[in-house]
Amino acid sequence: YVLGVDLGTSAVKVLLVSKIGDVVDEASESYPLYHDQPGYSEQDPEDWVKATKTAIKILTDKLEDNTAIKGMSFSGQMHGLVLLDKDKKPLRRAILWNDTRTTEECREIEAMVGIETLHSETKNPALEGFTLPKILWVKKHEPDIFEQADVFLLPKDYVRYRISGDVSMDYSDAAGTLLLNVEKKAWSTIMCEKTGVDINLCPALVGSYDHTGTVREEVASETGLSTDCQVFAGGADNACGAIGAGILQDGLTLASTGTSGVVLSYEETGDKDFAGQVHYFNHGDPEAYYTMGVTLAAGYSLSWFKDTFAKEISFEELVAEAHASTVGAKGLLYTPYIVGERTPYPDSQIRASFIGAHASHTRGDFARAVIEGITFSLNESVHIFRAKGKTINKVVASGGGAKSDLWLQIQADVFDAEVVTLQNEQGPGMGAAILAAVGTGWFTDLKSCAKTFVHYGKSYQPVEENKQAYQQLFSLYQQVYNQTKTIS
Ligand code: XUL
Repeated sequence: YVLGVDLGTSAVKVLLVSKIGDVVDEASESYPLYHDQPGYSEQDPEDWVKATKTAIKILTDKLEDNTAIKGMSFSGQMHGLVLLDKDKKPLRRAILWNDTRTTEECREIEAMVGIETLHSETKNPALEGFTLPKILWVKKHEPDIFEQADVFLLPKDYVRYRISGDVSMDYSDAAGTLLLNVEKKAWSTIMCEKTGVDINLCPALVGSYDHTGTVREEVASETGLSTDCQVFAGGADNACGAIGAGILQDGLTLASTGTSGVVLSYEETGDKDFAGQVHYFNHGDPEAYYTMGVTLAAGYSLSWFKDTFAKEISFEELVAEAHASTVGAKGLLYTPYIVGERTPYPDSQIRASFIGAHASHTRGDFARAVIEGITFSLNESVHIFRAKGKTINKVVASGGGAKSDLWLQIQADVFDAEVVTLQNEQGPGMGAAILAAVGTGWFTDLKSCAKTFVHYGKSYQPVEENKQAYQQLFSLYQQVYNQTKTIS
């Protein structure tokens, strides 16, 4: 067996996966989030370590022979700053990816580095969620703490350090710090120098399935793991989500709709210029990259709508009402900006809208407009990728949007691509398990492992008539942001 540890924002989920890719058991443990002030989002790294050990112990307690677990690897919530002192003790709580206190630092980074250099070095925009703005925030607001800082890690790397004793960071996660030269796969001396960050604060860089030690004795006795269990570096949750969905060759794209939505596409090279419009990160596949766009309120738009207007019925019933509406929701259009937007507009202030409401519209029309609006937002990323010459003809759907035939068909029609589901969807934890399976030597590379571990299910083809209707609606949708920006 191998373990795939998915260190999320609300919980850690550990999958026990067999040599043929079957998830034979899983355990999950949650931990608190701290929002001490508006915009703050923090977690105690010790909580992650405790929860991870507990979840592993739940699994090993049920196994007869724990030496059968040959390796483990990690998927981690991205961008979170874990600042350590010279004894590798956390100096403060971790500041997470969804913490928004650093708007000022983002503008400072742009001014210090220059937008063009920022994009050519890091391939990404300066967003509040990324790690460098958080480092600069601590430097400015907590100088006594910053003075003691010896190295910084990202969440899953800290948990891994506590398990194996190795201090390092993998490229796919380092790509989200804004300190990595993504194309060259090295810490950026330019970013460090221009923003006044000592490059020695950055840890050693490793590949996602590189060997990073074995389970420490103390951890082995606490978790039931063997000290022979090998520990492999792991990757960012989006990279692991891509691996777990088999996004391992050019032409494959992932559309995942959780609370937020992600459209992610495999890239063979790191030299394209998206001018920071989308994220451009290193893949867990050693020489590859991926581009990614984010819709902040994807599934969240639909759950907000249901909680507010359809509490008494189930999700299935609401989707059935939406199904009874027609393509284009009878002239009703929704933009999903209820908590701002990220791609293509990094704008936390923009607000959502329903446009074209008429007295004849029903709740089902509104629900359909919400589903279509979320899909249009995801399509903005597809549109940007295609504009750079990318062929997108097959999209793997995951998350809530992959659980409804209606939504899957809408995705195929809006994206104008075949949409396929995953037979046994496990999310980033499966990507982590694949990293461990390749690390242990069961497979030579990620692609051959994914052939055994990842299976596609149903397929949806675009319907010509719907596709054309949605193309027209999408160009209307694209006008709404600029038109409403001035009034919201
Ligand atoms: C990616 C991002 C989120 C976190 C969630 O840029 O901020 O997807 O990785 O864990």
